[in-house]
Amino acid sequence: MKISLITTLTSLDENKRIEEEIRALGHDFELVDLSEFKFSIIDNKLNVDKLDNLNCDIAIVRGIFTSIKSISNVIVALKERGIKIFDNNVLKHQYSIDKIGDILRLNINHLPIPDSFYSRDFEDYKKASQTLGFPFVFKSSRMGKGASVYKLNNQNELNDLISKLQEEGKEAKSFIAQKFIDYEYDIRALVIGGEIFPMRRIPGQGEFRANFSLGGSVETIELDSESRKLANLAVKAVDMSVAGVDILIDKQNKKYLLEVNHTAGFIGMEKAYSKNIGKVYVEHAIANAK
Ligand SMILES: Nc1ncnc2c1ncn2[C@@H]1O[C@H](COP(=O)(O)OP(=O)(O)O)[C@@H](O)[C@H]1O
Ligand SMILES: [Mg+2]
Repeated sequence: MKISLITTLTSLDENKRIEEEIRALGHDFELVDLSEFKFSIIDNKLNVDKLDNLNCDIAIVRGIFTSIKSISNVIVALKERGIKIFDNNVLKHQYSIDKIGDILRLNINHLPIPDSFYSRDFEDYKKASQTLGFPFVFKSSRMGKGASVYKLNNQNELNDLISKLQEEGKEAKSFIAQKFIDYEYDIRALVIGGEIFPMRRIPGQGEFRANFSLGGSVETIELDSESRKLANLAVKAVDMSVAGVDILIDKQNKKYLLEVNHTAGFIGMEKAYSKNIGKVYVEHAIANAK
């Protein structure tokens, strides 16, 4: 078989691992980079660079961060050419990061999240402490890796942050305020088709964000059945089969879902567990391509 990986982020280390595992299973591989997405329509015939000559049995769609709406439409059309697709529903969602949409889905599916407050107006956020108290967390809904996640201890810090964000031209609608959870455990549970690979993340000195990318350390952990169930339900609620679920567990063992990452990395997990998770991913993608 020939399997293609379609992405707009060629720098992801996972791309290389996916290629290795596809080749190890005896298949041919091609990386399709759509970061410079362009098309023409001449005499009503659509021409899309890199896709017109695509010749494969299965296309894995992963890490689409630019031109996502246009790309979604053209990739769906590949099915007419008999190409099976595994996209983890990104073509349906037409987004890779949207914490607000995901939080709403989690809530509507009766799953626990920290108390949260959303508005399109920064002035409303200035009053968020009335609902959430101090400290609370203010974060971008469209960033990852801990960037743009702030802990606000008092009104002055909040007002200063809002002034700074406004000066930078940021809009209130891309943020969300959230109750600060004084957590005991920050868990990343990577879910691949019901199989769960959990990891505990420990923030660096003087840091509340436990993201690995911010110098946090990681250790393997056994998850209790409640957390495992939550991780699986969260992935289902957001309508995917592969995702990285962030869970906070407080000192009373109460669990909160923080976010569901649509393009979760797995290389850190592979190292922590000495397990071939790339193979688990590729086999899942092949079995679920349609
Ligand atoms: N409400 C919260 N209470 C306490 N810590 C939080 C809260 N929200 C985020 N954090 C910390 O910041 C980290 C990054 O937040 P997260 O919402 O997962 O955004 P990102 O997409 O940047 O990873 C979390 O893993 C956690 O350590
Ligand atoms: Mg996170």
